[in-house]
Amino acid sequence: MTDEKLSDDSRSRLADRRGLEPHVYQPAEDSALLARAVIESLSNTDSQKHETATASSPTRLLEVGTGSGWVAEQLTAELDTHVVASDLNPHACRQARDRGLAVVRANLLDGFADHSIDSLVFNPPYLPTDPDNEWDDWMEHALSGGTDGRRLIIPFLDDAPRVLTTGGAAFLLVSSLTGYDAVVDYAREVGFAVAEVAQASYPFEVLSILKLTVDP
Ligand SMILES: C[S@@+](CC[C@H](N)C(=O)[O-])C[C@H]1O[C@@H](n2cnc3c(N)ncnc32)[C@H](O)[C@@H]1O
Repeated sequence: MTDEKLSDDSRSRLADRRGLEPHVYQPAEDSALLARAVIESLSNTDSQKHETATASSPTRLLEVGTGSGWVAEQLTAELDTHVVASDLNPHACRQARDRGLAVVRANLLDGFADHSIDSLVFNPPYLPTDPDNEWDDWMEHALSGGTDGRRLIIPFLDDAPRVLTTGGAAFLLVSSLTGYDAVVDYAREVGFAVAEVAQASYPFEVLSILKLTVDP
């Protein structure tokens, strides 16, 4: 498949999603893959039981860019952890709040205290998008990862170690369209140990869930 073909496919996928819901990203196969991987990973390991957790202070999980709130809702139902959801988009915050979630409107991790979160979860906007074909609206914010797909992934990786508790982990969805190796290399550069905990192939992309832990 040529780069030109990939970018055409990305654009048509973008257009398809735009037709479905004008303001808020609705759960799709990527959302389900992420939710399942986080639930399996945190259920099967002791990673919910971080040093900071006690009976009176349960572990905390933050889903960044929650959109409709569907992923955070699954995590709340399946995990024994206090779930908070955040998004930059006020329409998304409203939908997530309507699901009964605790929601904060925020730009990535801005405003979250140092070493306050045990698990971070992020399905970022990741489609590489030609700046000439961008629309300045909320669905664009949900889908477009800028020219290389990593517009929000890089600042998220830069700030995640500050917010995570000792022994905490960040779960990040990465598409092959976004440059898997580039994301893994950058995560290692900022000090994370990287493990892939789930992968699924679709006609035009492979989606992976990375579990990032601070390298001791
Ligand atoms: C691909 S959607 C994922 C939605 C949902 N988590 C899911 O998996 O179904 C990306 C989400 O990130 C949000 N977002 C975009 N830029 C953001 C930013 N700077 N800070 C926080 N959230 C952001 C979008 O509004 C959108 O809801």
